[in-house]
Amino acid sequence: MRNCQAGSLYRPARSVLAGALPGFSPNRPPRWASLSDQLDDSPFEIRLMSGNSREIQRNFAPYWGEGEEDRRLFDQLDLDSIPQHVAIIMDGNGRWAQQRRLPRVAGHRAGIASVRETVETAARLKLRILTLYAFSVENWKRPRSEVATLMSLLKEYLNKEIANLMANDIRFGTLGRTQELDPSIQRELQWAREKTSGNRGLLFNVALNYGGRAELVDAFNALWQQRKNGRQDEPAIDEQSIAQCLYTAGQPDPDLLIRTSGELRISNFLLWQIAYSEIWVTKTLWPDFRRKDFFKAVLSYQSRERRYGGLTNQ
Ligand code: FPP
Repeated sequence: MRNCQAGSLYRPARSVLAGALPGFSPNRPPRWASLSDQLDDSPFEIRLMSGNSREIQRNFAPYWGEGEEDRRLFDQLDLDSIPQHVAIIMDGNGRWAQQRRLPRVAGHRAGIASVRETVETAARLKLRILTLYAFSVENWKRPRSEVATLMSLLKEYLNKEIANLMANDIRFGTLGRTQELDPSIQRELQWAREKTSGNRGLLFNVALNYGGRAELVDAFNALWQQRKNGRQDEPAIDEQSIAQCLYTAGQPDPDLLIRTSGELRISNFLLWQIAYSEIWVTKTLWPDFRRKDFFKAVLSYQSRERRYGGLTNQ
């Protein structure tokens, strides 16, 4: 039985991005724009820019020259309004493979490059949390060989990327009933979680053997257990007490939910947490998802007015 978290909030990120990713500079705490920050490199343009925005600018500088479209989209971003938490339903691996007359697992393998680029983009944009939906409780219905490949790709990814995660201050986490996975996978996940536990930059969550309804069942059971063992005069259950028993306890809800491959479904993902998330769907299949697609999603998010059920200018 899971334990619920005792009321603490997610610790703000203090990312120290240095090392493996070219162009990362040691992080300073975000601060308001100072006079010197207001003068950008161009003598013809005076722009208000916070220290945080400047740092994001520097994080992406090594890329420019690689893709004109990336640069054009990046320049349109409001670097002071980057979403804190982005969650992604990675879909379309099978169709990507089918289009190329390849076995489905080739699509999953190709999807790893998208995972790598997405994690790197999220870290460079200084997001606090990135959550990727890698394997649902319903995915066990797939052929055994496909499930086995997905699990071995995850292991392979962790082994290859751990040094990069460490060098870039990225903390690895999991959401889901990971205790039901093969012991060898559990050991790998535990190793990655422990090794990166001291990192303070991006929190990279992988949802594995995850289901939104299963998460609520687990949370209610944990809450029920807690109440059974507790005092008789406990206050009534409220939204906060439920949130503290979710796998995401202490983490802010996703601001932006991305789904690739064009399907207009939630697929049992983060049912509680996405109550007020902005949703962006792209027809791009996951193995083709790149930095520019991430920028497009953030741009769309930044064009939305988030009212949380209230009115404009309230
Ligand atoms: C959906 O495509 C994708 C998945 C079920 C798995 C995604 C997993 C990876 C990209 C690899 C491992 C992840 C990490 C984080 C290292 P689909 O097979 O449902 O595609 P289809 O709808 O076109 O059939």
